[in-house]
Amino acid sequence: MAEELKFPDGFLWGSATASYQVEGGIENNDWAQAAREGKVPAAGRACDQYNRYRDDFDIAKSLGQNAHRFSIEWARIEPEEGSFDEAAIEHYRGVLGALRERGLEPFVTLWHFTLPVWFARIGGFENKKAPFYFARYCEYVVKGLGDSARFWMTINEPMIYASQGYFRGIWPPFSRNILKFKRVVDNLITSHNIAYKKIKGMKSDLQIGIAKNNIDFDSTRFNLVGQLVKFFGYFIWKHYFFKKIRSRQDFIGLNYYFHKHFGYKIYEEKSDMGSTIYSPAIHHVLTELKKYRKPVYITENGIADATDAKRAEFIKEHLRWVHRAIHDGVDVRGYFYWSLLDNFEWDKGFKPRFGLVEMNYETMGRNIRPSAYEYARICKTNSIILDSNF
Ligand code: BGC
Repeated sequence: MAEELKFPDGFLWGSATASYQVEGGIENNDWAQAAREGKVPAAGRACDQYNRYRDDFDIAKSLGQNAHRFSIEWARIEPEEGSFDEAAIEHYRGVLGALRERGLEPFVTLWHFTLPVWFARIGGFENKKAPFYFARYCEYVVKGLGDSARFWMTINEPMIYASQGYFRGIWPPFSRNILKFKRVVDNLITSHNIAYKKIKGMKSDLQIGIAKNNIDFDSTRFNLVGQLVKFFGYFIWKHYFFKKIRSRQDFIGLNYYFHKHFGYKIYEEKSDMGSTIYSPAIHHVLTELKKYRKPVYITENGIADATDAKRAEFIKEHLRWVHRAIHDGVDVRGYFYWSLLDNFEWDKGFKPRFGLVEMNYETMGRNIRPSAYEYARICKTNSIILDSNF
């Protein structure tokens, strides 16, 4: 028998993007530099969203969404150290205005992985002055745009950033050095904490957080490696950063994608990128956040699925576990699917297709996928309908 699960009134439904992945035309950050050196694919025009954001927000609105997460490109705002570009602020003011006109609550990320070339040259977040530079940049943006958005995230996925760039060495600056990894994580913590203080000092009503990727690690009791990963996964990967910024976040942004388990087999499908699809794990990572006693927004959850065969089910299954987490006392207030459109997927280039909207990168055409309409039904009714007993 079909059962309807309602989400709390005022729940935010949206999708997320990030500047370098969709805007196009950004040449002065570390990723563009690495692309010129042949180390990563080039983003080039990406989705040309810099010029087409109004059309994209029309699509988001037509799909029943009432919120939208995007990021600001630091390299556009501060192309050279200490010199700030008012025209770039003006551009993002236009972006925020376009969201508001369409009834989409903006969630603004101040930094989503890419560094201005000048900052990368002086060591990026390895530099001990990094928190000063970062907080100064945040302050400038919030001074210009703080009246146009209530929800701000300083940093996207600090642990992913540090591990890809300083542990696995596959993203700029392509380092494999555990000491640098640790230094970068600690500098990111300080950067957030100082930026938080500055922003709150200017506008105390703004809601400030980070977007943090928590992978769910699980293991059978007798699998030694699994137990170690689970232990360090919990204390270091999942909670170290949150603990260190505990008193300096007004909400928690959770990015959840996948689960890693050791020593037992569970039925699970995979995305086009080979990551596991196991929806109950989102309930697990959400309930672990209860101890922080903050509102939680799921700032990313999504799947690379070029044929769109799995996306609708993926969203619905994850949402039913989100609903269960709310029922179990986690104060979840919003959900942002990653991503509104197919986009530049970092070292993987344009191949993975995460979008509710399919991109034709030759024509820049946008084509709404069937799963987007399924998600739209959820957004419009603020509920999911289950076909079987849960
Ligand atoms: C990142 C996005 C990325 C997505 C899909 C997240 O880790 O924030 O930038 O595109 O995952 O891999």
